Amino acid sequence: LPKLPAARLEKINVDSLRFVESVMPSPETEQTRKNFVDELQNVVNQTSVMWGCDAKLVPFGSSVNNFGAENSDLDICLVLMPSGARWPDAFFDDTPSEQLGAPPATKAVEDLAATLSENGFEDVDDSRKSARIPILQFRHGPMELECDICVDNRLAVRNTLLLRTYSLIDPRVRQLAYVVKTWAKRRKINNPAERTLSSYGYILMVIHYLQQLETPLLPPLQALPPTWAGEPIKTSLDGSNDADAGMDGDDLDEDGNGASDLPVVLVQSNSEGAQQDTYFFADPQSAYFSTPADMSTAMKRLSAFAARNKDSLADLLVGFFWTMALKFDWRRHVIGVRDAHLVTKESKASEDSWKLHQRMAIEDPFETSYDVAHVVRDREFRLIREEFVRAYALLAAASPRQEADSLDDVI
Ligand code: GTP
Ligand code: MG
Repeated sequence: LPKLPAARLEKINVDSLRFVESVMPSPETEQTRKNFVDELQNVVNQTSVMWGCDAKLVPFGSSVNNFGAENSDLDICLVLMPSGARWPDAFFDDTPSEQLGAPPATKAVEDLAATLSENGFEDVDDSRKSARIPILQFRHGPMELECDICVDNRLAVRNTLLLRTYSLIDPRVRQLAYVVKTWAKRRKINNPAERTLSSYGYILMVIHYLQQLETPLLPPLQALPPTWAGEPIKTSLDGSNDADAGMDGDDLDEDGNGASDLPVVLVQSNSEGAQQDTYFFADPQSAYFSTPADMSTAMKRLSAFAARNKDSLADLLVGFFWTMALKFDWRRHVIGVRDAHLVTKESKASEDSWKLHQRMAIEDPFETSYDVAHVVRDREFRLIREEFVRAYALLAAASPRQEADSLDDVI
């Protein structure tokens, strides 16, 4: 990466920090969204009395993962759980909804659409009720909020928690992701319906980049051994939760914090329906697992890990665009965040039967056989790469005729 003049980097840094400040949602917005989900839960409760199970609305995506802007949509998952089950215990329970006596997802979407319309919500649209992941869309007029409710998409709830934990390790993670997401939206390369990449794909790309730096800013959370920072909470398929393990005095660290709130063990079903344990370190104060702990030992260690990297936001921003434009070998490698080493397309072809191609490929952290960039075709891949080159050239003012004056010209 060619070194830029210090004054240039300083200007990019000041501009981008100011920009990030302007797009981060205020605490009031977050509270309003939480209140709205509570209000919606009442509507769901009116509907679920017709069903043989409980139904809980669980927000996911950018309202929870810390990468959301003021005008981001609200993604909500309708989790169908056995009557009387508690959240977040049900987070770990992968019992198929048919076994709960729950209605099929299509019916759940239909019933909910009817109740939402009766309650005055606008533009209620259940036309995607039979999609792979059934979705109900509507608008909350007064808040100008677009909402999506999907049924039992637990994988999305899990990857939201993973992304959120990454976002909390160091402020630069969130800052860089905000600039990249806004850039992708403004450059119109963030729309899977038009065969460009989802926000989720761009965030995975940012995390991958921060893991692959010479002095990594992020470790791969899923690859840290479960006892990295203490005894794991072991939550298993049968629902038994020995969260008390490790809570005796021996496990207290020098700050007096118990070690047991550190890693969370998640049980995951992969695409073939087989079960396997996946571990990752989760933020103990997340929206899903509120614990009274301040900041856990694991989070402190993770932040100390990140602090060894001294790059400014400007260094990271220029480095990100340079890497994606010129360094990353898209033909050979897959963008992934599970492991510290680069994953090759050949290994994905042999392990997960991926079809070999020259385009962008992004491995989902949990559903590893799934390519998050599968919608991107040759033409759109070329477009996205051209946009990486453009952003880098403007930031570095590499072309004498195209001196970028402000970050606004770039993103
Ligand atoms: P904005 O809405 O653009 O602010 O960002 P977002 O973080 O909400 O991203 P997006 O709307 O693309 O996706 C919402 C959530 O759905 C993500 O955070 C993921 O949890 C999940 N998601 C999106 N795309 C995929 C995908 O391809 N695979 C999986 N497993 N989950 C996805
Ligand atoms: Mg969203």
